[in-house]
Amino acid sequence: MSDIGEENDILAYGSIFCYILEMCGIIGYIGKKQALPILLKGLRDLEYRGYDSAGIALINDGKIERVREVGKVDMLVKKIDGHKFPGNIGIAHTRWATHGGVTEKNAHPHIAGEGKLVLAHNGIIENYRELKKKVKGPFESETDTEILAKWIFLNYKGDLSQAVKKALLSVRGTYGLAVMHADHPDEIVAARLGSPLVIGIGKDEYYLASDVTPIIPYTKQVTYLDDGEVAVINRKDLKIFNLKDEQITKGITKIDWNTEKAQKGGFETFMLKEIFDQPTVFEDAIRGRIDMKEGTAKLGGLNMSPEEMQKIKRIILIACGTAFYACMAARYAFERLSGIPTEVDVSSEFRYRDPIVDEHTLIFAVSQSGETIDTIMALREAKRKGGVVRGIVNVVGSTIARETGAGTYIHAGPELAVASTKAYTNMVAILLLYALQFGRLHHTTVSTGQRMLQELLEIPEKINKILKNSDNIKILAKKYKDYENFLFLGRGVNYPVVLEGSHKLKEISYIHSEAYPAGEMKHGANALLSKNFPVLVVMTQNQLYEKIKSNVEEVRARKSEIIVIATESDKSAKELSDDIIYVPKTMELLEPLLNTIPLQLFAYHIAAMLHRDVDRPRNLAKSVTVE
Ligand code: M6R
Repeated sequence: MSDIGEENDILAYGSIFCYILEMCGIIGYIGKKQALPILLKGLRDLEYRGYDSAGIALINDGKIERVREVGKVDMLVKKIDGHKFPGNIGIAHTRWATHGGVTEKNAHPHIAGEGKLVLAHNGIIENYRELKKKVKGPFESETDTEILAKWIFLNYKGDLSQAVKKALLSVRGTYGLAVMHADHPDEIVAARLGSPLVIGIGKDEYYLASDVTPIIPYTKQVTYLDDGEVAVINRKDLKIFNLKDEQITKGITKIDWNTEKAQKGGFETFMLKEIFDQPTVFEDAIRGRIDMKEGTAKLGGLNMSPEEMQKIKRIILIACGTAFYACMAARYAFERLSGIPTEVDVSSEFRYRDPIVDEHTLIFAVSQSGETIDTIMALREAKRKGGVVRGIVNVVGSTIARETGAGTYIHAGPELAVASTKAYTNMVAILLLYALQFGRLHHTTVSTGQRMLQELLEIPEKINKILKNSDNIKILAKKYKDYENFLFLGRGVNYPVVLEGSHKLKEISYIHSEAYPAGEMKHGANALLSKNFPVLVVMTQNQLYEKIKSNVEEVRARKSEIIVIATESDKSAKELSDDIIYVPKTMELLEPLLNTIPLQLFAYHIAAMLHRDVDRPRNLAKSVTVE
């Protein structure tokens, strides 16, 4: 069993805490009403963020009472059943672990000071080891949150808000937190750094939550905490400070969303929300996993020594659907950086083709859900043949995570739309990091590694830039939505990009589309080209740029309308196209991380305009658990 934080990307169970901020949910209440029903409803409203355990704590009669349970909020309700937990101040938490350790003891809220202080926390305390040495055991859980609770308690000298401010001055990491102390039955202290918190303002009552969803049934007036702010909330009063203890005046925002819209973060659909989540979750995927000094990645989840890694002579990436295209996109990096022959196979083909696998073959089973039956069967086949199998998975504790036993979580957060978007981007990110980690054991130099890491760090900002263009892509979508066929063209790293773009368009808009490597057109697909067959080409400025340019010239000669995805300020691409979408420049191997985003938006806007059920397209399921 790993200790907290030690191997934050290993799938070994028994490790840790809520690492990704957006995945867990906090709710708090202080006022005149009974807190329990408000907290339980709030937890239910937050369940869409994912859950594996939940807990509540209330102050009653100068004592803190706490109940926690593994599973859905319903399990917690069942446990509470029959017991009365009176009190009109309380905090609660729903957890969606991105690492193992789904146990009651690891569930929040955590206590300190022999049950005097209680804390619910989203985020990660990076210097928990340092703090652990300063506080007193025993430790009930494996979480960094419990250490933080003890650290705040150690700083407590009779004033709870001062204790929180003082304690947070020496905390490194991210948090959205809510604290109560049994001797302060009129006060909740909340703080934010990197993990959202919003305060709902009622009449002589306040609500606190990770997002507005659980607050809007009670009040539409909210104040958002910003990073570095501490809120001191009592029944009559809300005061907000910075960590230097200076009071801050904040504005009040009026929310006019309903619960459903709030769960979608104000977006029309989960898919659009998830597309826009990408800059944030990408940061979550790479956080703590890069070693700039050595120009390499630190993915401990591989669970192999450098000597064992050196013995790997072949890599096979197995997956289905969008996960398969993510693998295809990363293959170039594996081969170019490490020189290790790398194959990509659709799981349903791999499992039946009697694959050649031995103890020098590393197989990555890549899956968002971790429950895709074809990938599960394929990894079993690979294991049976003696291969070294690892998982790259989003859902913690899923079958693939358990059966591979080691690997890496992609930290994309719950992906609820059937069409995968943010999971794709994070899969590519993790695979690229693995490619670099292997590359640095072979011929990739430290400076190439550093350059790649630097480019990776710039990706979230560049994705943001593309997302800002969403309305222009929507205008294009309007122009093209009534075509019955599309052709997508790309070369090199952009071939998998167009495969994924075409896949996205098909699955949510039901428009027929095909993706081709542009150089292959002359061997058949050119026959399809006509005025009524628009062609979308990804032709960013990489080593195959001139080649694909000539391919586009050929398409142009056949009168098809051409939409081009090109590198910012590429004027000649503009001359070749009817419509153009620009993307920022990045290193060639990283291009799939950017170039896929406009294709997601293009597919999305077309499907939305055609009034498709974008989040739940016909005939498809989020998790494909049957063959
Ligand atoms: O959960 P997985 O990543 O294993 O799922 C694989 C495919 O079923 C999935 O990517 C599917 O193609 C999506 N609907 C794509 O948007």
